Amino acid sequence: MNDGPILVFDSGVGGLSVVAALRGQLPGAALAYACDNAMLPYGLREDDWLVARILRVCEAAVAASRCVTLVVACNTASTLALDALRDRLSIPVVGTVPAIKPAAAASRSGHFGLLATSATVSRPYTLGLIEAYAAECRVTRVAADALVRVAEGWLTGDAPDLEVIRQALAPLWEDPALDTVVLGCTHFPLLRDFLAAAAPREIHWIDSSEAIARRTARVVSGVAPRHGPGESLVTALDSRLTAGLARFDFAPPKLLALD
Ligand code: DGL
Repeated sequence: MNDGPILVFDSGVGGLSVVAALRGQLPGAALAYACDNAMLPYGLREDDWLVARILRVCEAAVAASRCVTLVVACNTASTLALDALRDRLSIPVVGTVPAIKPAAAASRSGHFGLLATSATVSRPYTLGLIEAYAAECRVTRVAADALVRVAEGWLTGDAPDLEVIRQALAPLWEDPALDTVVLGCTHFPLLRDFLAAAAPREIHWIDSSEAIARRTARVVSGVAPRHGPGESLVTALDSRLTAGLARFDFAPPKLLALD
């Protein structure tokens, strides 16, 4: 029986926002973390290039970590490359997509926001989710790529730039009826307290991490028990990541060799 860890993948530190939920659902399971920080941010990259890159990095990281399941903790990657990853890999792949359905159920006014990367807010996959689950709602889609860098900085020791946060959120507040915001990029829950502080009123913030953790717990089989910090793999060595990864119980990053 294969008894490797569950591998969590993102372009950068965003996947760590899913790790906490995974630990809640699977407290005894070994986790490994991989990120393509050399090519961050994904949200501004061209689709064909991105699919090839995601396949290359995930294939290498799955082989290096000997994982039993891959959790793609990145909306930008999942809304584009989930099918390609499932075709290529022989292990279960759990994706992360914007929580449109829960937001449609939670919004009292019927007007909610989607805060995500440029790629995610305009992907056919995302538009399909809105059509399928929020056809009766008004959905304000806001691209907030600048917040990816703010979250990376926050996890590596920089104070968040509150003005960047204020400007990124501003388009959400034009209609006072908007009451719910989907955090459709895994980097953004890392900034939740700052986002809430920048909002002009009480907002219901929704992300996908608990749903991903529940889904992972259902698909995973034979996962290795947790003994000490999990392995972390990066595509660019950066010692500033060490402390942020350690907070989520991952070892100092090692360079992932790509073919
Ligand atoms: N964390 C990623 C997501 O959920 C993407 C961030 C990036 O643009 O690299 O979409």
